[in-house]
Amino acid sequence: MPDSIRTIPVRVQPPYEVTIGCGLLGRCGDSLAPLLGRRKIAVLTDDTVAPLYLDTVTASLEGAGFAVCFHVFPAGEGRKNLATLGELLEFLASEHLTRTDCVAALGGGVVGDMAGFAAAVYLRGIRYVQLPTTLLAAVDSSVGGKTAVDLSAGKNLAGAFCQPAAVLCDTDCLKTLPPDVFADGAAEAIKTGILSDESLFALFEDGTLTADPGAVIARCVQYKAGVVERDEREQGERKLLNLGHTVGHAIEKCSGYTIPHGHAVAAGLAIIARSAEKLGWTEEPIAARIAACLRKNGLPTDTGYSAEALAEAALSDKKRAGGDITLVIPRRIGACELRKVPVADLPPIISAGLEG
Ligand code: NAD
Ligand code: GLY
Repeated sequence: MPDSIRTIPVRVQPPYEVTIGCGLLGRCGDSLAPLLGRRKIAVLTDDTVAPLYLDTVTASLEGAGFAVCFHVFPAGEGRKNLATLGELLEFLASEHLTRTDCVAALGGGVVGDMAGFAAAVYLRGIRYVQLPTTLLAAVDSSVGGKTAVDLSAGKNLAGAFCQPAAVLCDTDCLKTLPPDVFADGAAEAIKTGILSDESLFALFEDGTLTADPGAVIARCVQYKAGVVERDEREQGERKLLNLGHTVGHAIEKCSGYTIPHGHAVAAGLAIIARSAEKLGWTEEPIAARIAACLRKNGLPTDTGYSAEALAEAALSDKKRAGGDITLVIPRRIGACELRKVPVADLPPIISAGLEG
């Protein structure tokens, strides 16, 4: 059923739905009007996505009775910062949005994280919806309510938990993604497979997302929704979703945010899998299989940065608490565990996972 519409509930307070299917952006006004009321809506997007999808979204929202304004900012992780956040907040204020109005985040994870954060703090919080346009945003970042910007000290260091009112994931958007941006999303979906579902992982070992990406997105969202429902504020189980991210975020930071998140996470997955295997923390050999799967999907499995540089970059990681840091360790494909280690042990642990 490649064309079917799938709806996944996220049972937090208040609950919301993730809808996945073709053509959803062209019908977003009718979908959102009953939920939001015919309010003013500010569409926030970047300058790559705007020429592709902004007219479609604006026309649909206006057709359904919304008063629409929009703001377009330069694409890229390098712009996910306090300066852009300030720009977004000033825009919302200049448009006189009130607490009954809302924001639509139209784009990938960068737009979603920043527009979500702007909505979380503007007037101490207004509602927002996620309209994810990358595979990464579809399988991961649009769901769960983590919003953030990067600081010079590190990745996602200022942010808020703020759940969207709805997520509309139009799978047609995947058709315009450059292959490397598509691969970024594959990295987070492969992560989901390693965390929870060997058969999902195996789909990526075959090399492509096949004819029905909506089904793969739905499996990832279903898993993430369950984790978020059980641990919305990342006190325990949700930490597992950071598999590959301690090293991944360090790679992003070391590169000055020129290596995309998905590529950095892919290298982080491969590195932690090799470390875990060498240190005897896995139940069976998994590192070669994970690396082969990542390579098959156009993703890296190593980095040129030294273990010391990566460990230093990880010192400002949110997963650090005092002298310890919580790592996510793959035990086998489909099951991982949290392991608290002293920060001082990080360089040798990372070093064990580097190929060079
Ligand atoms: P991105 O938002 O930078 O998008 C990548 C590029 O693709 C950009 O140039 C964008 O303009 C372009 N693009 C977007 N949609 C397109 C389309 N349909 N066709 C053509 N081009 C398109 O990157 P991303 O990979 O989507 O997201 C990465 C970000 O997500 C990181 O900042 C990461 O920290 C964040 N993230 C957040 C969470 C969360 O839970 N909040 C989870 C995972 C990742
Ligand atoms: N991407 C990690 C999380 O949402 O918790």
